[in-house]
Amino acid sequence: MTANPQKTRETDPLKSIVAHAKEYGFIFPSSEVYDGLQAVYDYGQNGVELKNNIKRLWWKTMVQMNENVVGLDSAIFMHPTIWKASGHVDSFNDPMIDNKDSKKRYRADELIEARAEEMRESGDENGADELLSKANGLLDREDLDGLRDLIVEQEIKCPTSGTANWTDVRQFNLMFSTHMGSVSDDSDKVYLRPETAQGIFVNYLNVQKSGRKKIPFGIAQIGKAFRNEIVARQFIFRMREFEQMEMQFFVRPGTEMGWYEEWMQKRMGWHKALGISEDSLRFHKHEKLAHYANAASDIEFKFPFGFKEVEGIHSRTDFDLKNHQEFSRKKISYHDPETNQSYTPYVVETSAGLDRLFLMMLCSSFVQEEVKDGDNVKERLYLKFPAFLAPNKAAVFPLVKKDGLPELARKLFDELKMEHQAIYEEQAAIGKRYTRQDLIGTPYCITVDHESLENQTVTIRERDSTNQERIAIDKVLAYISEKVSDQQVLAKV
Ligand code: GAP
Repeated sequence: MTANPQKTRETDPLKSIVAHAKEYGFIFPSSEVYDGLQAVYDYGQNGVELKNNIKRLWWKTMVQMNENVVGLDSAIFMHPTIWKASGHVDSFNDPMIDNKDSKKRYRADELIEARAEEMRESGDENGADELLSKANGLLDREDLDGLRDLIVEQEIKCPTSGTANWTDVRQFNLMFSTHMGSVSDDSDKVYLRPETAQGIFVNYLNVQKSGRKKIPFGIAQIGKAFRNEIVARQFIFRMREFEQMEMQFFVRPGTEMGWYEEWMQKRMGWHKALGISEDSLRFHKHEKLAHYANAASDIEFKFPFGFKEVEGIHSRTDFDLKNHQEFSRKKISYHDPETNQSYTPYVVETSAGLDRLFLMMLCSSFVQEEVKDGDNVKERLYLKFPAFLAPNKAAVFPLVKKDGLPELARKLFDELKMEHQAIYEEQAAIGKRYTRQDLIGTPYCITVDHESLENQTVTIRERDSTNQERIAIDKVLAYISEKVSDQQVLAKV
């Protein structure tokens, strides 16, 4: 039987995934009892396990498997001058425009991109290219009046009010700020970090010196980042509070392009090793570079709403370290024992969005297929997570709640839970219990039945094939441990 997720995807694939994520304890809208908080989400009992498993695998691949990469956990609050030095105070902006009738706010560049997409769909490729190149020119020159004129000239209307009654275009800084201590004036202003990378840059010397690290070496960290996104939609794809997994790799100036290529390939290999199909992944090279980069590419995944960025690989030059040196007036340089020269290291960054990887796993694992049930055909829905990422590795069921089966099943569960996230369940018919585990992506269900009492064996049902085999109870832990191990993935990356 081949997987046929088309049915759900054709209707409204993202809606089905969002509904499933809520119903089965993966993701809840934040503050739901108070009608929610836009673009903020909570991870439920299964979501947090999946998220932790993605984090753990990233950490193992980046830190444990790379002798020259070490970890860090820096604070969210940092000295406000850091954000001046990094360019975020002055340049971390999106151009926004409001519709006066609907009071809705849009990103001016996204309105124009959507118009170009419409032109392309109606076969006007040249018109679309011309429009985008005009818009890019205006964005590069920060010509906000020109952007507004282009929106008006193109007769772009607000999707809500249907009118073209637009305000001027203004730059909108995406950083959240608050005040530290009890006095609320500008001298106490602090920002919630919009990227974790700056915590790495300002600790570069601490790590290099305390760890006696030699270039090239990297510093990795996982942590929350905050952006006051103007347009926050597509579920957890664009959030205002999200988590990044970033690594800054410090290299000798002039060698950065080689390292940039190497990290691009390594990171793409990692996504493929998670079992994501090749045709759902691609690189997107940036033509318009961020203020700090001399080369940049995204790894994009084919979401139900199109190919979108899940991770960026950026060659950030010495922009950040040089600026921190200038603003802090503290020397940040490296004496290279090989060349006997001192320099400010260049940086190649890999920056993945944890929540986007989570959504990628959810989308690529969401399978709906038709299966034969006697003469009927019925639909089967399950989450085909790779076993090493699945929130729960195994579920243990006594076939019935009597005859000593629960006692034996519990004994097995108690053994399994020492090593793995596992579930014990004795309610409902066995078929229903299997279905419930399919819906949360548990790869193995173990049933203790009457034969178990006679010969100390149990059945193990595999989620994707639904095949069952019988094995000795005392072999179950080793069996599960082997099946859910991440060793094969780690060997590939
Ligand atoms: N330090 C570089 C940096 O922050 P970025 O491309 O702005 O680069 C890196 O962000 C990654 O963070 C993106 O590839 C994406 O996966 C994730 N990300 C960025 N903004 C996000 C948002 N609003 N919600 C969820 N993830 C986001």
